[in-house]
Amino acid sequence: MATLASHIWPISATVRTDSHLQIGGCDLVALAHEYGTPLYVFDQATIQAACRQYQAAFAQAYPGKTIVHYAGKALINTALVQIIAAEGLGLDVVSGGELFIALRAGMPAARIHMHGNAKPIAELQQALDAGIGQIVVDNLDELSALASLTSGRTSPQEIALRIAPGIAPDTHHHIQTGQATSKFGLPLQSLDAAAQLICEAPGLHLVGLHVHLGSQIFDAHPYAQAIAVMLDCALHLQTAYGLTISEINPGGGLGVPYIAEQALPDVAVYADLISTALRDGCATRGLALPRLSIEPGRSIIARAGVAVYQIIGTKPLPVVPDQPESASRYLHIDGGMADNIRPALYQARYTTLLPERAAAPAEEIVHIAGRYCESGDILLRDVALPHAAPGDLVAVATVGAYTLSMASNYNLTLRPAVVFVDHGQARLVQRRETYEDLARRDLPIC
Ligand code: LLP
Repeated sequence: MATLASHIWPISATVRTDSHLQIGGCDLVALAHEYGTPLYVFDQATIQAACRQYQAAFAQAYPGKTIVHYAGKALINTALVQIIAAEGLGLDVVSGGELFIALRAGMPAARIHMHGNAKPIAELQQALDAGIGQIVVDNLDELSALASLTSGRTSPQEIALRIAPGIAPDTHHHIQTGQATSKFGLPLQSLDAAAQLICEAPGLHLVGLHVHLGSQIFDAHPYAQAIAVMLDCALHLQTAYGLTISEINPGGGLGVPYIAEQALPDVAVYADLISTALRDGCATRGLALPRLSIEPGRSIIARAGVAVYQIIGTKPLPVVPDQPESASRYLHIDGGMADNIRPALYQARYTTLLPERAAAPAEEIVHIAGRYCESGDILLRDVALPHAAPGDLVAVATVGAYTLSMASNYNLTLRPAVVFVDHGQARLVQRRETYEDLARRDLPIC
């Protein structure tokens, strides 16, 4: 590869004159030697640029009334929460664990929203005790539970209702969430029951309506449809129950390119489409303009992350007659599905290069196989690389989202170290796990 597909790698990525890949002013090869592999390296400038791009686009499209919440399920750790908080974003959490890390890292409770289709009572209580800004209620049982938990409160807890709008965007079916059959969100026919419960719950204050259609969405038009559904609900709640909806939240989900052929969506176009749908929809229905809350996860963090692995061994593949483009070898690496399960789970594709020879031309087609005891643990299929040998490093782009946050200890391997880079400085923000970490929860039987 002579040039980097610049919209896939972090914004600071360059190829040095010695052909090493550099991110955030740091030589990726030197980082791999210092911190070991597998290593996840995040470019701080890319994270900050994504936050600022969202804020600027919505400040332009829907001035003074948009709040951007980063969806922590894409990736959460203390250093990242600190950056997100400093950028002025809020944070969506989906568990007591994410809430714990967020608060400990200094995210103001008022800027936190809590999601989830099955929030345990203890975690709802944890959120109430912390005084978080909003609980996004998923279903009637949760609403009843919250009504009881808050019945004695003097200041009501702000809530939003997540509705299932019956819209299926064009994405992998595992990550569609807006369709009527989805496990997430209140069916539209339950809206009246929810309104009645809310009217009888002095400890709850309904402020918003929410939908989340799914993830890795490139066509933004379903968002306009979702806004229309939410505004219909808002009008009904206002006329039938006197409940005023002051916040509309179309969730997250904007797609991210993982391979060179995919284009980078324009956040300004997305912001425009959503704001126009909201403004026009409110005008048609005679509703006051609400606040707009959005929840990007992947599009804030995916591109910032680069994974570095080491090749442990190789295996030749049988030659396929009449298919000269088929892979000739497996390259076995020291990571795989335990740190990035997305290829196994969604057939996700990625972009790769050899960070020690980033400018070298491709010489062969290979599959990059993970180390785990699963035939499905192939991190990349049919990728073109310079000829590589055991000991060489492999870098994989766009791995910031839904990799480490979905990581496991399968085969009792150690979860990778995480380094943030910026202006030539590297900071270890999560150390590699140790064998002691693996044994920490085990208790002997005798
Ligand atoms: N808000 C809610 C309520 C969500 O459920 C999600 C993601 C987001 C916001 C953020 O969506 P994003 O902007 O990141 O697309 N593990 C899958 C993705 C699951 C998404 C879950 N919900 C993957 O690796 O593709």
